[in-house]
Amino acid sequence: MNPASHAAADASAIGHLSLVEYPHPALLRRARPVTRLDAGLQEAVERMFDIMYEAQGIGLAAPQVALPYRLFVVNCAGRRGDGEEHVFINPVISRPRGTAVQEEGCLSLPGVRMDVRRPQRVVVDAWSLAGDPIHLDLDGLLSRVVQHEFDHLEGRLFTDRLPDAAALEVRRDLETFREVFLGKQSRGEVPGDETLLAELDRLTAARC
Ligand code: CO
Repeated sequence: MNPASHAAADASAIGHLSLVEYPHPALLRRARPVTRLDAGLQEAVERMFDIMYEAQGIGLAAPQVALPYRLFVVNCAGRRGDGEEHVFINPVISRPRGTAVQEEGCLSLPGVRMDVRRPQRVVVDAWSLAGDPIHLDLDGLLSRVVQHEFDHLEGRLFTDRLPDAAALEVRRDLETFREVFLGKQSRGEVPGDETLLAELDRLTAARC
């Protein structure tokens, strides 16, 4: 490999992926549309399924593994080989109808569970990993999960959707997560925000 192509490969490389927790900056800013679906990103999506199953989740958005891309994976069965694996790339949600309240949790806020009010039904348009268009009218658990994961792409967590009393209740939990994260940064176990943001910018420049 010549030096030029080696440098190009490094500029888009996706390193080891793992779950990040609040308030990692990837979770707090808007993800960008993907314009390049390369082998590195396809491999990352496979790893996102592995990470989701291992954490016993049913949905995982790219920002939750510190990837600044508008994509998420879902399997409502939560087990490999069961249910249906969905990959939604550059999703758009429309036609909200009805209202439903259901308890939610999030792999980025382990241990926090709260009732969240959302539209019962929505339509999602997106692209599959193969580049095929997806158009689904959603109801039930898949509607709930898609809306939760879509929020991650907007830099929002389910705790941003709570009524005042519940928001107050969860505020102490969020403060604890913040203290833990800042502690890890101060001990050098997690890079500082400047380094984390520079890495997000590098990945954005490579595929957005
Ligand atoms: Co979540």
